Amino acid sequence: MGVFSVEDGAFRLDGAEFRVLSGAMHYFRTHPAQWRHRLAMLRAMGLNTVETYVPWNLHEPRQGEFRRMSELGDFLDAAAEAGLLAIVRPGPYICAEWDNGGLPAWLTGRIRTSDPEYLGHVDRFFDRILPQVAERQVTRGGNVIMVQVENEYGSYGSDHAYLRHLADGLRARGVEVPLFTSDGPADWYLTGGTVPGVLATVNFGSDPDRAFATLREHRPDDPLFCMEFWCGWFDHWGQQHMTRDAGDAAAVLERILELGASVNLYMAHGGTNFGTWAGANQTGERAMGDWRPTVTSYDYDAPIDERGAPTEKFWRFREVLSRFAGEPPEVPPVPDVLPAATLRPVQSVSLREALEAVAGPEVSAPVPPSFEELGLEHGLVLYRGEVPGPRGAYRLRLPGLRDRAHVLVDGVLAGVFERDAEEPEVTVSGPATVEVLVESMGRTNYGPLTGESKGLTGGVLHHQQYLNGWSARPIPLEDVSAVPFADEVSDGPRSFFRFELEVAEPADTFLALPGWGKGYVWVNGFCLGRYWAEGPQHTLYVPAPLLRSGTNDIIVLELDQPAQTLHLTPTPTLS
Ligand code: GLA
Repeated sequence: MGVFSVEDGAFRLDGAEFRVLSGAMHYFRTHPAQWRHRLAMLRAMGLNTVETYVPWNLHEPRQGEFRRMSELGDFLDAAAEAGLLAIVRPGPYICAEWDNGGLPAWLTGRIRTSDPEYLGHVDRFFDRILPQVAERQVTRGGNVIMVQVENEYGSYGSDHAYLRHLADGLRARGVEVPLFTSDGPADWYLTGGTVPGVLATVNFGSDPDRAFATLREHRPDDPLFCMEFWCGWFDHWGQQHMTRDAGDAAAVLERILELGASVNLYMAHGGTNFGTWAGANQTGERAMGDWRPTVTSYDYDAPIDERGAPTEKFWRFREVLSRFAGEPPEVPPVPDVLPAATLRPVQSVSLREALEAVAGPEVSAPVPPSFEELGLEHGLVLYRGEVPGPRGAYRLRLPGLRDRAHVLVDGVLAGVFERDAEEPEVTVSGPATVEVLVESMGRTNYGPLTGESKGLTGGVLHHQQYLNGWSARPIPLEDVSAVPFADEVSDGPRSFFRFELEVAEPADTFLALPGWGKGYVWVNGFCLGRYWAEGPQHTLYVPAPLLRSGTNDIIVLELDQPAQTLHLTPTPTLS
């Protein structure tokens, strides 16, 4: 049995003063078969702790339906085996560039408040997830030393009854290690997000002296802890690739440690937003400006890159950490990569021909139902409606489109609409059939607009008139095993393409899609995520454990315009 405590403004582990040298790594962003390698890399960089969030929406996709529940505990056990302590941040909100900040899309009630309906959902999830944290605390022979209450709540609200309920709920479910909150280093964040009797920590990327001085004004007695030292950053589609200079980041880390503080590197290893889990942000000081979806890679320019290799930042951090904490263990070898290769499709089928196999049942309604009303988290919805006639030609408008749509008039593509972009001029005379294929690109995960719905949320206007009477077919893109491929390879858009990849010995690789437009890729049934010619990301990481010796199945759903070939490359292109 161990004790992790705070005494005289310092952390103590089993009585001895202890500095937490932690790195963030999310168990849900790295294939479980690779956890051990990445955790060994964290240890080898000189860290003594790993930190992870818990994404509620991954674990409870529909109310009361739980999945992948043992992964958190398995990850904590793998960390313990690697000689790492653990910090758990169970939300319920996590931000993290994760869809909807981790909140399930089906939630009812006022999110992130003490609204009883919302709290009921939180409590039921905590009942299910927290036992595996409680039983792995240091006090019970495990490795969990700290648990977070909410996440940067001061950036969002000021409902202290809500934070109190969460803190009490953690205690009531057996959490006995120190609790903490984490917030930006400014008065308004700290007065909104902290809880009396619960440690306060701050998040920042630079100027530790100023950040800790602000924390000190609010918490003269709490140990100094930077819970998120942003040593890299993430990317949005259509925007510049973000990097953080290794030398600059190492100098800030050194200063944090000189000040006697504990630290959590955000991220130590970023990983990947597989499937449809990437979130989105809104620009501007109030996070209510232009909408920016996050890319599939979560490499984060972190010290340990997306495929687990050490970067220059790794070596710089290792050197700094070793000066404060002694020589770390040896660095594990970098995993192998497959040789470069070019693949051509062997089969294809149009989305229209595949619809019966991949779409859910048709729903009819006077206005286009949202994704959430259709019970759909992500993917596509094919809406179909009529323009009455005879009538002259007027413009079609999609106010409140979330997030991207192909508009077809009488079966012919008339325009591609995008959220927050100028609408293409699509004029239609009636009578005509209008189909709108809407793609969801990830829910906003930060700021006042968290908790948005997807679809045609402002309806469809013909001139100024709402078009009513819609049918909608949800296309979840979760299971592509039933796609009815034909042996002919078409070159049409909005089609599935099948490739075969022969592998002698599975190893990591990156998929490049030169000339392809926008879509999704599955490897042996596992959805790697979204790709988009807009960049900055131009390759998708394929972890070795997804591949098998022999023939592997790669499926691409291309929404805009297919090209001829796919390429395997040993190195990523993120910019
Ligand atoms: C905040 C959040 C994190 C993450 C970072 C940016 O600090 O707490 O979840 O979103 O910003 O990567």
